[in-house]
Amino acid sequence: MDVFAAIKGRRSVRSYKDLEVESDKIEKILEAGRLSPSANNRQEWKFIIVKDAETKKKLGRAAMNQSFIGQAPVVLAACATESKAVMLCGHPTYAVDVSIAFAYMLLEAYELGLGTCWIGAFKEDEVKSILGVPKDARVVALSPLGYPGTHAVLRPRKSLDEITCFEVYR
Ligand SMILES: Cc1cc2nc3c(=O)[nH]c(=O)nc-3n(C[C@H](O)[C@H](O)[C@H](O)COP(=O)(O)O)c2cc1C
Repeated sequence: MDVFAAIKGRRSVRSYKDLEVESDKIEKILEAGRLSPSANNRQEWKFIIVKDAETKKKLGRAAMNQSFIGQAPVVLAACATESKAVMLCGHPTYAVDVSIAFAYMLLEAYELGLGTCWIGAFKEDEVKSILGVPKDARVVALSPLGYPGTHAVLRPRKSLDEITCFEVYR
């Protein structure tokens, strides 16, 4: 599958089959994160793979009771091991680095026939306590991972005209 096909075909999946995810597929998804770019090649990230049913349920509860999270065979948590660095442009490095890596991982999951859904609506303190994430680390995103159940809907996008301009911001 080429990159554009993955970008075009991926959807947020909120229903999962009760089927295990093969460990070689999980490894390949993690490898996609490992190979991702980061500012100064810092790689200040840690990806947690959760399969324990009780922990997954707790994560779902910490994420505004989005119960489909706990129903997936795997939940991934994307963490930053450090959160103080700020780029010259003023943006926190960790949020950008970890988001790029997680986006790559979710695209790789799609290539492998697996569904994911970026989860940003969660109480970070609760997730940190459930997963034993240290105080200075941050949890940037969660995602369920598994074989898609029902067909995921195609969400609309703005047109190119609406989101692009040439030479200067208009
Ligand atoms: C930063 C971010 C946070 C998101 N948080 C949630 C979430 O908490 N729950 C959820 O169901 N979907 C969440 N989504 C998924 C978006 O709703 C979804 O990507 C968007 O509606 C477009 O649909 P698509 O992913 O199927 O193309 C999030 C996506 C992003 C990028």
